[in-house]
This record gives sequence, C-alpha cells and structure tokens, in this order.
Amino acid sequence: VVCFWLLTPSSLLCLFSSETVRAGKVLVVPVDGSHWLSMKILVEELSRRGHEMVVLVPETSVLIGKSGNYTTKYFCVPYTLAELNANLDHIKNNAFEKPPQLTDIFVNLGNLMRFTDMQVKACEGLLYNESLMKSLRETGFDVVLTDPFLPCGTIISDSFSLPAIYFLHAIPCRLDEAAAQCPSPPSFVPRFFTGFSDKMTFPQRVRNTLMTVFQKYQCHQLFASFGELASRYLQKDTTYKELLGNGAVWLLRYDFTFEFPKPQMPNMVQIGGINCAKKGPLTKVRCLST
Ligand SMILES: *[C@@H]1O[C@H](CO)[C@@H](O)[C@H](O)[C@H]1NC(C)=O
Ligand SMILES: *[C@@H]1O[C@H](CO)[C@@H](O)[C@H](O)[C@H]1NC(C)=O
Repeated sequence: VVCFWLLTPSSLLCLFSSETVRAGKVLVVPVDGSHWLSMKILVEELSRRGHEMVVLVPETSVLIGKSGNYTTKYFCVPYTLAELNANLDHIKNNAFEKPPQLTDIFVNLGNLMRFTDMQVKACEGLLYNESLMKSLRETGFDVVLTDPFLPCGTIISDSFSLPAIYFLHAIPCRLDEAAAQCPSPPSFVPRFFTGFSDKMTFPQRVRNTLMTVFQKYQCHQLFASFGELASRYLQKDTTYKELLGNGAVWLLRYDFTFEFPKPQMPNMVQIGGINCAKKGPLTKVRCLST
C-alpha cells in the first residue's frame, strides 16, 4: 500500500482501509413509493462502487422495479396493485394536496394505519417464507440497508444479527428520535402539523408540548402492530422503538439549509442533499405563493 510512505497517523488508517474497502454484500429492504426514489440513488451508487446490492421487492409495488444495477428478490404480498394504489391515494389526497389542518390528524392517522396494516401483512408474508429467508440468511450479507418507516428490514437485521443502516427523512410521531434517545425539546423543535418554527412564543411552546404528548399516543397506535410482529417473529418481548434503537447509522434525508435545526445523535448523518441528486431544469413559470 502506498500509504506506507507517509509517516502520519493517516498511514495507519490506510493500512486498515486496505481491508475495509473490500466490496460488501448489502441487503436492501426498501419502502415503496416516493421513499424509494432517493434510496435508489444510494443503492445504484453503491452498486457502481462494486458492492453487491440485493433489493427485496414486494411482488406488487408502485415504484420499486428491476434494474441492471442491482439484484432483485421478489416476495409475495396479500394485496393487488389496485388495492395498494387506492390506499396510497387516500394518504396522498389528505396529506399532500392541501396544507394540513389540525383536524386532519385523525383522518391522516386512520389512512396511515390502513396503509401500514397492509404493509405489515406483507412483511409477515416475507418473514414467514422459510425458503426465502433461508436463502437470504445463507447469502451472508454484511449489512442491512433499510427504510425504517416499515418494520421488515429492522426485524431482519435483528434476526440475522446484522448492523442496520437506516435511510429516512423522519418517522411519524418522531419515533426515530425517541428510539435513538435523541433530545427533542418541545421548546424549540416544532412538531408536525403545528406550523411553528424553531422560534416559538410561550403559548406556541405550550401548544407544541401538548402536541408532543398527543404524538406519544399516536406512536402507540401506529406502531403497536410492528411491535407485535417483531415480538412474535423474534420470540422476545420487544417494541418497535426498542428494536429501532439498535440501528448502527441513521442516514437522514434532512438538511439544516431547508429545515429547522434540531439536536442529532453522533450516528446520525445528514444526507439531505441526495434529494437534489436528480436535477432537472427549472421551469420559467414563477410561482407566487398565495
Ligand atoms: C444504472 O446506473 C446508471 C448510472 O449510474 C444509469 O445510467 C443506468 O441507466 C442504470 N441502469 C439501469 C438498467 O437502470
Ligand atoms: C416464498 O418466496 C418464494 C420466492 O419469492 C416464492 O416463490 C414462494 O412462492 C414463497 N412461498 C410462499 C409460501 O409464499
């Protein structure tokens, strides 16, 4: 190795790096929909750098597909494409097409729970498919790269005793922060749906704190089925939050340039810029917000 010539501490690093630069085998457990679009950029780049990427794809999916740049393994799911699309439309119409109102929380929560219930059933089908799981286990992966919005990847990494790399923007009700024991003071980290910034007046802080309490309840509702599946499959008493807390690295599609600053843990890495990797020309039409 060339680094032998250098008498600096970095020469030591180079010695070790000759070991660590070997290509790895990465099991990718994505979440369908827009979540996949930015994860795909990372998966393709890692593949280009010589790592073996195996992507687990639900048989029925909106956006995850085959590519010459990574291997795909399909698993059966108990729903049709029409059912999946109908479910996603419900979420989209309420959550994205208009600015969220406080009263939308319950509608959104209901829609989200219908979607996650569907996905948890799919995840169950994957986990309990013994032949598929056996073949994955025998592949000898080094790491699991997953979007923890859904529990499959996290459960697999625990079951295979592999480090989990998370790729996400955020998890509803801030379960990510709770799991990582990341401080998130309601005095200056605005909760979703409040429309507040990091600089709040006293009454706003009070409302933000009330929202924090409400979100704890939301978390309980949303992730109960994840915890139930994890406990049953891994045969130990656990919750999704506890499982999530074992993650090795959190790759966050977050950036303080676009979003309010907030505390982060040392194993959280901001990769918000990845959202800009696919560039397109700006339109000439200027949008004026009304
Ligand atoms: C593989 O990735 C390259 C960019 O790295 C892209 O140009 C090409 O279209 C991709 N191939 C497939 C089959 O998606
Ligand atoms: C398990 O997965 C394999 C590969 O995706 C599939 O061919 C098989 O039908 C599945 N088995 C069950 C019981 O779903």
